[in-house]
Amino acid sequence: MTYQLITVRTEADKVGIITLNRPKQLNALNGDLMDELGAALKSFDADEKIGCMVITGSEKAFAAGADIGAMATYTFSDVYKGDYITRNWETIRSIRKPVIAAVSGFALGGGCELAMMCDFIIAADNARFGQPEIKLGIIPGAGGTQRLPRAVGKAKAMDLALTGRMMDATEAERAGLVSRVVPLDKLMDEVLGAALMICDYGQPSVMAAKESINRAFESGLSDGIMFERRLFHALFATADQKEGMDAFVNKRKANFTNR
Ligand code: CAA
Repeated sequence: MTYQLITVRTEADKVGIITLNRPKQLNALNGDLMDELGAALKSFDADEKIGCMVITGSEKAFAAGADIGAMATYTFSDVYKGDYITRNWETIRSIRKPVIAAVSGFALGGGCELAMMCDFIIAADNARFGQPEIKLGIIPGAGGTQRLPRAVGKAKAMDLALTGRMMDATEAERAGLVSRVVPLDKLMDEVLGAALMICDYGQPSVMAAKESINRAFESGLSDGIMFERRLFHALFATADQKEGMDAFVNKRKANFTNR
């Protein structure tokens, strides 16, 4: 498939890298871009060789939100009947391999929400996060009112969504929204380092870890623990568990085969 609004490449044949590519609009997210993003994610997820994916933007903007120009004339029946957002923004939730957001510059509105749909965020020191929808007479509509409080707590989520202010990378890391902050010129090195490390582990255990942590946000503690325990038990049926433990016991590097 050829893409117009994203670019797609791989690193070391193992990491699928998707770059949002509407630079003049600061990567504002429209329906066509979200269709392309969903297709690229699905294609990498289905590729045996790919162990991890990265979504990134430009130095100035990861994504400055949903496309306001496109939304400006939408009516209620347009968005309701067309199933706006639900129709094609959340494909990423069905992706089973890890997806890292590499964020530099603005991650606002739907851009912040897209970053939060990824499994974790590594930010450059120039990153700025916010949910400024209140300034447009709307509210976050791609999960921001749900994922942001889970990531940073009620106080900061309310502060950001009600004032529309931005927070910088330092504040975002302190609040728990991002896992690491690095200098802008080191962002992709850091992200690819993490991605390649993940690719070297066994895919069944990587996918199970992702699935189990995500379950923490969908269930009560007892159910979540039981879900984890079942996956943990199941991994003892994999060749990778035998390999990983044998490698440790015999003081050698594990060679996982994703089986
Ligand atoms: N949609 C459409 N176009 C956008 C855009 C957006 N979200 N954000 C920026 N652009 C466009 C601007 O209109 C401008 O285009 P022109 O050159 O044709 O005028 C271009 O990108 C550059 O933007 P600025 O000149 O504004 O750049 P700046 O550096 O002065 O400011 C900014 C950068 C602070 C990010 C500012 O562009 C801004 O506030 N953007 C809007 C952010 C926003 O409100 N996001 C939320 C959208 S609603 C949403 O996302 C709903 C949801 O939950 C799903």
